[in-house]
Amino acid sequence: MSLASVSRMEAKLLLPTYERQPILFVRGRGVYLWDSRGRRHLDFLSGIGVNALGHNHPAIQAAIKRQAGRLIHVSNLFFHEYQAELARMLTEISGLDRAFFCNSGTEAWEGALKLARAFAQASNKNGHKPKWRILAMENSFHGRTFGALATTGQPKYRAPFVPLMPGVTFVKFNDLDDLQRKFDASVCAICIETIQGEGGICPVDKEFLELASRLTKKSGALLVFDEIQCGLGRTGRHFAYQHYDVLPDVVTVAKPLACGLPLGALLTTERVASCMHPGMHGTTFGGGPLACAVAIVFLREEKKLLKHVRALGEYFHVALKALDKKHKAIQDVRGAGLMQALELDSPELAKAVARQLLQEGIIINRTHETVLRFLPPYVIQKKHVDQVIKALDAALYKNAQSPQKSTYRKKADKKTAPARREEAHAHA
Ligand SMILES: Cc1ncc(COP(=O)(O)O)c(C=O)c1O
Repeated sequence: MSLASVSRMEAKLLLPTYERQPILFVRGRGVYLWDSRGRRHLDFLSGIGVNALGHNHPAIQAAIKRQAGRLIHVSNLFFHEYQAELARMLTEISGLDRAFFCNSGTEAWEGALKLARAFAQASNKNGHKPKWRILAMENSFHGRTFGALATTGQPKYRAPFVPLMPGVTFVKFNDLDDLQRKFDASVCAICIETIQGEGGICPVDKEFLELASRLTKKSGALLVFDEIQCGLGRTGRHFAYQHYDVLPDVVTVAKPLACGLPLGALLTTERVASCMHPGMHGTTFGGGPLACAVAIVFLREEKKLLKHVRALGEYFHVALKALDKKHKAIQDVRGAGLMQALELDSPELAKAVARQLLQEGIIINRTHETVLRFLPPYVIQKKHVDQVIKALDAALYKNAQSPQKSTYRKKADKKTAPARREEAHAHA
């Protein structure tokens, strides 16, 4: 089928939830994707952080073939060979004790929220009202289901669906005073994306994380991290929180876990897990044999690639910093490992640069209006980074020079990224 006929049918038959780029991809290998016209594209987005091993990785392909020929689904009413082994691997690398498997990021997050409420109820021994309030962060993104939406700190995602789950208070991200002020004995969980992904690649500050850890430890609330985008090797460590000296009570993962097959997980401590009993939570598809068999292979490969991700991440970051020196329009360079971002000074410029790169066969993505987000596969090489930097350089020169873009702020006017986000929020 051609791009034209597919897009015509989709326009008629699908809910209009996506604005797709006009490309029909038909195959992929390594860091490249090929479209229906036979054109090759360098993938610096990995299907939003999913294809961490690149496309059609031989070990993943072999695992899928092998397992698809044996057993695809049995439901969680029975045992299969892979959930226990996958849980063993995930608990070993996370420092946590137990896992629950599901199908997506948002579903992992729903499980974490339910766990926080259930744990609060189970530990409420004194007859008072159990802890119930959830502190979530402004600018965060946790998914599209109702609980995840209720804790997503971006009004544009929540507004069309109110009223949402009650009990959520938003804290200014990385604002120690605001966290301290909003925390009290009624809080059952503090929820943090260790690096806010959709919100523009904004890492949590060490002091903020440490305060959240101290507050939760002291009161018995849970510290819950969303590492759906930044976890599982993306930053060059198994988990982004491993760059800090803080261990969460619960962490959620998904995106790269089964390399494109739907699989999410929450990981937690023995103490927290003890509040769950058969029937309290579950899923039909989650943690099936096919996805789990693939995830085991992914984790074996991920371990081998951590050093490479750190090295290439550093190489990429330094190159982006060098671009920053050359281009007035760059407001900030942020990121860790192979989760990097360039913040530009206008949504129009960010759009134009992303569009131009796509025309040149490079896939990146614009998030939070002005932020160019890079989530390449862990297997990229320096030459791929060089190609992207060269294309960015040219696209920034070309688009920043166009006459209609005369409203760019001078570098001297640069505000810090958090200050600008605050300003934007105040106007939202
Ligand atoms: C940090 C974070 N949490 C949750 C989600 C939701 O994951 P999913 O789209 O798999 O439901 C995403 C997806 O982008 C995410 O980046």
